[in-house]
Amino acid sequence: MVILGIESSCDETAAAISVDGRKIVSDVVLSQADMHALYGGVVPEIASRRHVEGICAVVEQALQKAGCALDDVDAIAVTYAPGLIGALLVGVNYAKGLAFSTGKPLVPVHHIHGHIAANYIAYPDLTPPFCCLVVSGGHSLLIDVRDYTDMKVLGSTRDDAAGEAFDKAARVLGLPYPGGAQIDRLAQNGNGQAYRLPKARIEGAPWDFSFSGLKTAVINTVHTAAQRGEMLDREGLAASFCAAVTRELVPPAIDAARYCGYGKLAVAGGVAANRVLRQALQTQCREQGIALYIPPAKLCGDNGSMIACQGYYAYQAGIRGDTDLNAYATLAADAPQPIL
Ligand code: KG4
Ligand code: ZN
Repeated sequence: MVILGIESSCDETAAAISVDGRKIVSDVVLSQADMHALYGGVVPEIASRRHVEGICAVVEQALQKAGCALDDVDAIAVTYAPGLIGALLVGVNYAKGLAFSTGKPLVPVHHIHGHIAANYIAYPDLTPPFCCLVVSGGHSLLIDVRDYTDMKVLGSTRDDAAGEAFDKAARVLGLPYPGGAQIDRLAQNGNGQAYRLPKARIEGAPWDFSFSGLKTAVINTVHTAAQRGEMLDREGLAASFCAAVTRELVPPAIDAARYCGYGKLAVAGGVAANRVLRQALQTQCREQGIALYIPPAKLCGDNGSMIACQGYYAYQAGIRGDTDLNAYATLAADAPQPIL
């Protein structure tokens, strides 16, 4: 079954073609990051306009690279939530137009389910159930993935998402948007113990996260050094920040994976590209006898492949969009999916 997947929830216009879910035959990503870097973060109105400008060419290229025509596509999958509402609406309306003018099924895909599906592409033998740590620009979640479209959120962030904290810390360090990858690079030459940064603990909620205290600590460290005229160890602070985020994420993820009892922990989302986090997960999962799944960095960020892959499983589960399909800025990862 051939699925065209379309993604436009934030600042990447992306499309891909999958065959039976896991086989990706084309993948096109048009990033707007350079444009948003001028403003230090994503400007929603600019994102929507850029999606409108790029979406036709991105989809055409995805078809072309796959060597297929629209006629060969069996279903059209699109991210419909969560994300920037104007950005999502561009993808949803484009996909609707394509689906209803050709009579092909429309398959709405939850963005977080898409991120999780990046693991199916990277690991052809991975099947649910498993526990998944999702760490992106907008979300930090621990999810019991019971089946391809049946999920239970076990824990989430109480304030900032992990990626958001990375982007804000990067900004105060004078690094351009999107800052996560920049901090990761800077941290490569730094000492992860150079700065003492706080660890948040939430009473009675072992699988919830909090990153705002950590973010504030980085901001205060930079400002205090400036006020005292002290030299800032930027590499050390970047490495200490990566280590602190890792300390925040890994123990609850291991604990939740053990609670789920599947012996499998998958990781997804842009922050999963972080080298310090990947290393710590590898070491600790090995020690705990948990099988670890982390997609390559290219599949961690937003892309069309993950939507084309999840679109296949959502189609199998009977998830369909009609002409009245809407986009949603927020929608829980375990909310019921539209079934016609
Ligand atoms: O999943 P994603 O591409 O988009 C959302 O759905 O939000 O995640 C983007 C986030 C950004 O905050 C970005 O700074 C962060 O992922 N990120 C990283 C790395 N690469 C991207 N954070 C830490 N280390 C990285 N290597
Ligand atoms: Zn994403």
